[in-house]
Amino acid sequence: MELIIQGNVAKNCHPEGLRQGIDKQIKYVESHGEIYGPRKVLVIGASSGYGLASRIAVAFGGGADTIGVSFEKSPGEKGIGSAGWYNNIFFRRRAHEKGLIAKNFIADAFSDTTRNDVIEYIKQEFGGSIDLLVYSVASGVRVCPDGTRYTSTLGVRGQAFSGPGFDLETRQMVNQTLEPVTDQQLADTVKVMGGEDWQRWVDMLSAAGVLAEGFKTVAYSYTGPKSTWPLYKEGALGAAKAHLHATADDLDAQLQRINGHAYAVICKALVTKASAFIPMFPLYITLLYKVMKQKRLHETCIEQMHRLMLNHLYPPMGNVVTDDERRIRLDDFELRPDVQQAVERLRKRVTTENFKTVGDFAGYLAEFYALNGFSMPDVDYSSELDLRQLVKEYS
Ligand code: NAI
Ligand code: NA
Repeated sequence: MELIIQGNVAKNCHPEGLRQGIDKQIKYVESHGEIYGPRKVLVIGASSGYGLASRIAVAFGGGADTIGVSFEKSPGEKGIGSAGWYNNIFFRRRAHEKGLIAKNFIADAFSDTTRNDVIEYIKQEFGGSIDLLVYSVASGVRVCPDGTRYTSTLGVRGQAFSGPGFDLETRQMVNQTLEPVTDQQLADTVKVMGGEDWQRWVDMLSAAGVLAEGFKTVAYSYTGPKSTWPLYKEGALGAAKAHLHATADDLDAQLQRINGHAYAVICKALVTKASAFIPMFPLYITLLYKVMKQKRLHETCIEQMHRLMLNHLYPPMGNVVTDDERRIRLDDFELRPDVQQAVERLRKRVTTENFKTVGDFAGYLAEFYALNGFSMPDVDYSSELDLRQLVKEYS
């Protein structure tokens, strides 16, 4: 059985490989320094990427009980289901083995019904409060509580921007273009990927009285080096992230009442379902990976989130570690001048012929495959999966 890729989107997954991926992340945090952090954690966007790694870090690195909210497909008539579906199940199994609470909500994070269900659960079965909320949603669509549906657009402000990027389906380097967004598209993208929904979570949790004294909340963001600004920071997504940063400051002020804090966390660029989708961005990631691996600075989601919890958000001594704009920086290695100079040298050399060796294309693919449970060392991919068996075992 093989991974099917269409465009830059994976169309299937392999449960056994996903189980190994979860175990690998658990093993990492269990052998890298205990986190003296939160006991009761709610993760929105918990089933993959940064959200999943956050959940693993606090549970297996610090013994926290967790609630995870995510939007995923179970195995059934429409196929074997999504990677995140299995991640949720394998996470929960391991957490239960450790005696930890691990509750999964497969529900729309943008809906008030979901918020009310989660609040009820916190009150009835989770000890009455949470001390950390992680907001890690990546979505192209948001249906607001008033029923309006917004979609986000990957696009630039100002002139169209073109450059080399990858087509993962054909494994070729192709020229890609980001078109300028209209004012309406820009505003809609901010609606979907900005801070409004994060704010609403905190407002409703707060009004329900389920935020513990000293409560903290984080949401994930990206800034990147100057070479990526036209396609990210200065584009529609960047505008949404700017809104998210402002929301962090609003929430921080609002949470003073309970000695609470809110932070935007600027993460490193890495391979996830969401980042594969951004034109030209994966090429930058392969150049960055090449350099960071050479310099032994390479990190994936789990290293980043473990470092976030251990060194920045819950340092054993002293205060939360931020920059002078009150943002937590996990992109410090990525943005090191020697790293970016080396990336720029590679960028000048990279062509449609040599991109597989100049950049770490093999490393990119390996991580992309692993996200979906493929290319894992100890899985037998020769046999086909039995859908009826999967439904019986996992739905
Ligand atoms: P991901 O695609 O791996 O995870 C997204 C999560 O959101 C999944 O758990 C998915 O189920 C959930 N989700 C999507 N729509 C939902 C909905 N309507 N209701 C409930 N759950 C929903 O993405 P990734 O990369 O982990 O992104 C998380 C955050 O990290 C995003 O804010 C992203 O901008 C940010 N980030 C990502 C970087 C990267 O290079 N991958 C770099 C810096 C920040
Ligand atoms: Na996530």
